[in-house]
Amino acid sequence: MSDRVWSQVDAYIEDRLVAEDAALSAAIRESAAAGLPAIAVSAAQGKMLHLLALSIGAKRILEVGTLGGYSAIWMGRALGDDGELISLEIDPRNAEVASDNIRRAGLNDRVNILVGPAIARLPSLDGPFDFTFIDADKQSNADYFDHAVRLSRRGAVIVVDNVIRNGDVIDPGGNAQVQGVRRMMDAISKDKRVSATAVQTVGNKGYDGFLIAVVL
Ligand code: SAH
Ligand code: DHB
Ligand code: MG
Repeated sequence: MSDRVWSQVDAYIEDRLVAEDAALSAAIRESAAAGLPAIAVSAAQGKMLHLLALSIGAKRILEVGTLGGYSAIWMGRALGDDGELISLEIDPRNAEVASDNIRRAGLNDRVNILVGPAIARLPSLDGPFDFTFIDADKQSNADYFDHAVRLSRRGAVIVVDNVIRNGDVIDPGGNAQVQGVRRMMDAISKDKRVSATAVQTVGNKGYDGFLIAVVL
C-alpha cells in the first residue's frame, strides 16, 4: 500500500462523491499562485467538515488557521443565510488571499477572517459556537482546544487536524508540533467536559488524522 494508491483512491472518492466546484478549485489554484503552501485539507476532508457541520445544523462556526480559505469555504457552505463563520489567521497575506477566495465563493456575508495570533483573539470571542475546526500552529493546540470548549454550546463538535502526522504522535521525543499535539491529547484525556476520539487517515495528504470531540 502506498501514497500513490491513497491518492488514486482520493481521486475516485472525489469523482463519485465530492463535487469540487469552480470556486473551490479556484481557491486552491489562487492559493498556489500566491505562493501559499499546499496544506489545505483535501476535498474529501473538506466535504467531511461540511457534512459534520451540516449534520448538527451549525449556525456559528469557529476556525483556527484560515490559510487560503479552502476549509472555510467547505464549512461556510454548511451555514444558512443567517450563519456565521469566524476564522482566525496570523498572516495578513494569507487572509487577503482567503478573503478573495471566499468572496468568489459568495460567502463573504457569512465568513469573517480575524487577522492576528489566534491566542490573542480567542479570549475576546463570544460564544456559543456549534462547530470548531482547529488547524493552525500545532504547538498551541492545547490552548486552542481549551478555548474552543469554553466557547462551545453543549453538543458542539470540535475537530482538530493533523493529530497523527505519519505516526509521530506516539513519539515522546517528537518535535515542537508533536509535543503540542501530545499536550492536547494529555489534557483531553483528563477533560470531563468532552468526549473524544481520533481517527487515522490516508489519502492525497499522506498519513495523518483528525481528533473529533463532542462537548458534553
Ligand atoms: N484550514 C486551512 C489550512 C490552515 S494551514 C485549510 O484547510 O484550508 C495553517 C494556517 O494557520 C496557516 O495559514 C498559518 O498562517 C496559520 N497560523 C499559524 N500560526 C497561527 C497563529 N498563531 N494564529 C493564527 N493562525 C496561525
Ligand atoms: C501541514 C499540513 C497541515 O494540514 C497543516 O495544517 C500544517 C502543515 C504539512 O503537511 O506540513
Ligand atoms: Mg491542517
